[in-house]
Amino acid sequence: MSNSAPAPLHVVDLIRKKRDGGALNAREIGFLAAGAANGSVPLEQLSAWLMAAWLRGLSLTETQALTLAMRDSGEKFSTARLGKVAVDKHSTGGVGDKTSFLVAPLAAACGLAVPMISGRALGHTGGTLDKLEAIPGFQTALTLSEFETVLEKCGASIVSQTLALVPADRVLYALRDRTATVESPGLICASILSKKLAAGLDALVLDVKTGSGAFMSKREDAEYLAALMVATAEGAGTRTVALMTDMGQPLGRMAGNWIELVESVELLRGQRNPESEDLRELSLALAGWMIHLGGKAATPEMGRQLADTALANGYALRVFLEMVAAQGGEVSVFDDIGAFHKPGATMVVEAWASGFVAEMDTTALGWAVQRLGAGREKAGEPVDPYAGIEFRARRGARVKAGQPFATLYATSEDMLAEPAELIRAAVTIQDAPPRPVPLVSRIFTREAADAYLKDAVR
Ligand code: URA
Repeated sequence: MSNSAPAPLHVVDLIRKKRDGGALNAREIGFLAAGAANGSVPLEQLSAWLMAAWLRGLSLTETQALTLAMRDSGEKFSTARLGKVAVDKHSTGGVGDKTSFLVAPLAAACGLAVPMISGRALGHTGGTLDKLEAIPGFQTALTLSEFETVLEKCGASIVSQTLALVPADRVLYALRDRTATVESPGLICASILSKKLAAGLDALVLDVKTGSGAFMSKREDAEYLAALMVATAEGAGTRTVALMTDMGQPLGRMAGNWIELVESVELLRGQRNPESEDLRELSLALAGWMIHLGGKAATPEMGRQLADTALANGYALRVFLEMVAAQGGEVSVFDDIGAFHKPGATMVVEAWASGFVAEMDTTALGWAVQRLGAGREKAGEPVDPYAGIEFRARRGARVKAGQPFATLYATSEDMLAEPAELIRAAVTIQDAPPRPVPLVSRIFTREAADAYLKDAVR
């Protein structure tokens, strides 16, 4: 055998191999990912390969190879100098999902580092960065060295993705958006995890949403994605768990930008509200797993107890406010959170029937929030920090016709009518109470994920 260099790769061969149902090896996948990042593979060939991958699917081995190749396509954040175990949480997105503002300070208050790289509002779902930017002065576009400084000081930092981090995803995600190849479990898994793993995480908790507001509308698709992400991240050496959680109604009572921070800070201050209990409960469950996987508690239940203590003694609130200050935000806006809220127009939507609040089309509710000005139609558009919806009755509540159901906050009067109509059409009020839905319906640990994938037919 000669020690000759491996045969050169040709993109057209890799497209053909995938098109015909073959599996690419790590070298071939690495070639495509690097080519996407450095521009050496033309977009038409990447598009063709993406469509072949969408139609044929990617095996677990291919998904793992793509995740690592994308992770390694640009610069990475090193958590080594922090001297702490680095953990994070990732949610597949939803309406009113503001757990990041609770779990990041909760885990940091328990001695962990939380380097969180977040996204913006997309479609019907809200964006963590847009919500944080409602705080005057708050900077999300930090350099990796500024990110490290905030993490050293506060234990948690929430920032946007830098241009140099995972460039392969920037190219591939934009192409998937334009070639109808977004909804592929392997491609989604590699896209999400490459960015998370580039942040140097030791442990990761995934919050995979199910129900009417979830990104994956079919439960079995969401389960498969959850198991695939756990197996892939664990294979890359990051301790990972996925919780399947309910997005059959907005999480908590606020959905928008500033108002979601209000609800989060109320909870961090120890203020309880029956309409915010699901948010509190899910945040503690997620933080419990982060604290457990980060090695600070023997079980997730003990992690939850530590998180509960950090909530009760105000440590988590202190971390949150320190993080806001360290990222340039005006902390004084939290002195009088009501006074800071200055929406252009307000409207109360009254319950249109008497009975129990039941099924909700949460995606439609998310669009209502977006149309009030809180989200964007096109990438790059500004969002209104004050826009959003406060839900005054949640699923299962008994309401009387005419009582306040929701308060709408919009940029201007003319933006109120359509969202009000969307709400009336999206929510069912019926005579009988609806069946209760568990907040956390399934947990995929590594073992559970491996067992699921062994049996899954794809
Ligand atoms: N979010 C991502 O970052 N990537 C996907 O592919 C889907 C959702």
